[in-house]
Amino acid sequence: MTATIQIEMIAAMTKGLQVIGSHGTIPWMLASDMVHFRDTTRGQIVVMGKRTWLSLPKRPLPNRLNIVITHHPEDIPEIAVSASSVIDAISIAQLAIIDDPEPKRKLMVIGGSEIYQAFMRHATVMHLTHINATVSGDTYFPTVDWDMWRKTDERGFEATPGTPKLDQYSFEICRYERV
Ligand SMILES: NC(=O)c1ccc[n+]([C@@H]2O[C@H](COP(=O)([O-])OP(=O)(O)OC[C@H]3O[C@@H](n4cnc5c(N)ncnc54)[C@H](OP(=O)(O)O)[C@@H]3O)[C@@H](O)[C@H]2O)c1
Repeated sequence: MTATIQIEMIAAMTKGLQVIGSHGTIPWMLASDMVHFRDTTRGQIVVMGKRTWLSLPKRPLPNRLNIVITHHPEDIPEIAVSASSVIDAISIAQLAIIDDPEPKRKLMVIGGSEIYQAFMRHATVMHLTHINATVSGDTYFPTVDWDMWRKTDERGFEATPGTPKLDQYSFEICRYERV
């Protein structure tokens, strides 16, 4: 028996250069975007590269099956599932949704750069946070062929400096569907 799983990508990046990371971490604090990430991926299957796995403050991400793509499966503890390639990760996710009582589970691609690039042709939806800031970094979201995508939703957020629920910069959260 085979199952077809919907593949969606979720990422936050600066406008312009599309910076997503710096020195193995995310170089901003956007509390509202973290809530969006949690709500969008909760209950789903998440797939990430090993460097993103290692960057998580708490591993695994709770209430989600965590798949980690690596050439070194021995590095991944049993609290997650290792995959040797993109196709392997998709197969694992498809197996996981067979007989699942919640039929709408998705495979959420959560980074980093190499993994977004590799999944770009498989994804049908992208949830992209566009940050109004110039931030230096060393990891970037891949180039997007915008002719292939149409925006279906956009929500704007103001910066909230000096508050406990800090949004360091203003940003927009957009949803795109493959045309
Ligand atoms: N802003 C955002 O939304 C966001 C989201 C996620 C991550 N980030 C940031 O992005 C950075 C990490 O991203 P990254 O691009 O450097 O690394 P990454 O994509 O998370 O991980 C790269 C690693 O994944 C494995 N890998 C990648 N492609 C593979 C393939 N085809 N087959 C087998 N293994 C493969 C390799 O691990 P092995 O060496 O073990 O083989 C590779 O070294 C961090 O700074 C993180 O904070 C930002």
